Amino acid sequence: MVRLFVNVDHVATVRQARFASEPDPVRAAVLAELGGADGVTVHLREDRRHIQDADVDTLLRTAATPVNLELAATVEMVELACAWAPAKATLVPERRKEVTTEGGLDLAPGRLRPISEATARLRSGGVQVSLFVDPDEYSLRTSRRIGADAVELHTGEYANAEATERAAQLNRLRRAASLAKDLGLVVHAGHGLTYENVAPVAAIPEIVELNIGHSIVSRAVLHGMRESVKEMVGILARVVR
Ligand code: PXP
Repeated sequence: MVRLFVNVDHVATVRQARFASEPDPVRAAVLAELGGADGVTVHLREDRRHIQDADVDTLLRTAATPVNLELAATVEMVELACAWAPAKATLVPERRKEVTTEGGLDLAPGRLRPISEATARLRSGGVQVSLFVDPDEYSLRTSRRIGADAVELHTGEYANAEATERAAQLNRLRRAASLAKDLGLVVHAGHGLTYENVAPVAAIPEIVELNIGHSIVSRAVLHGMRESVKEMVGILARVVR
C-alpha cells in the first residue's frame, strides 16, 4: 500500500486568518497520525502565510511519524531546514502571489544552481531530499543528475484534467513513475488529489508515497461540524438566564 503523508498547512491557514492560537496544525498532525497517516507534511513558506517556524519546531519534537518539510531552495530556508534536520525535505517552487504551488520546479539549466546547491546542502545534513517536479523525462533525469533521493510527481494536471484528458494524464504519470524508478529515484506524488481521484494514482506501483492536504482538511472540517455545533449548543443550553 502506498504511504500517506498528510499536509496540515490549511489548518494553519485558518489560524492565521485571525492570528489566533487555534486551530493548531500540530494537534491536527497528531490526529492525522491517529487516523493512520504515515507521515506529516508542512510547507514553511518564505512569506510565512500559514505554517510558522514555531509549528515546525514543535512538530519535529512531537511527531510520532516522519516529517516532510516543504521549502523553497533559498539559503535562508535551507539553513533553517538543516538546523531542524527533518526526516525529509521537498524542494518546491514558490511565488508570492500564488494561491498554492502551481507546478513543478523549473529545472532549466539557468535555474538549476540554487536547487542543486540546496539538494547537496540538505543531503550533507542527513536530510533525504525530494524534488517536486512535473512528470516529464527532462525533470526526472535532471533530478537524478543533481543527486536528489526522490521526486514528487506533480499530479495537478491529472487532477484538473477534463474527463476526456484524464487517461492521458494518468499515463503520463505512469510513464514518469516508471522512468523515475529506473533512474534509481524514490517516487512520491501529490497535489490536487482527492477522495474521488486518488485511487488510480495510488495504484501506480512505483509510487510509494502520496502528499495530500486540501481534500483531507476540507473533509475534516465538514466531518467535525456537527459535533462542534452540538458542543456549543450544549454550553448555551446550560447557561442560566
Ligand atoms: N505536494 C506539494 C509539493 C505541495 O506543495 C502541496 C500543496 O501544498 C501538496 C503536495 C498537497 O496538495 P493538496 O493540498 O492539493 O492536496
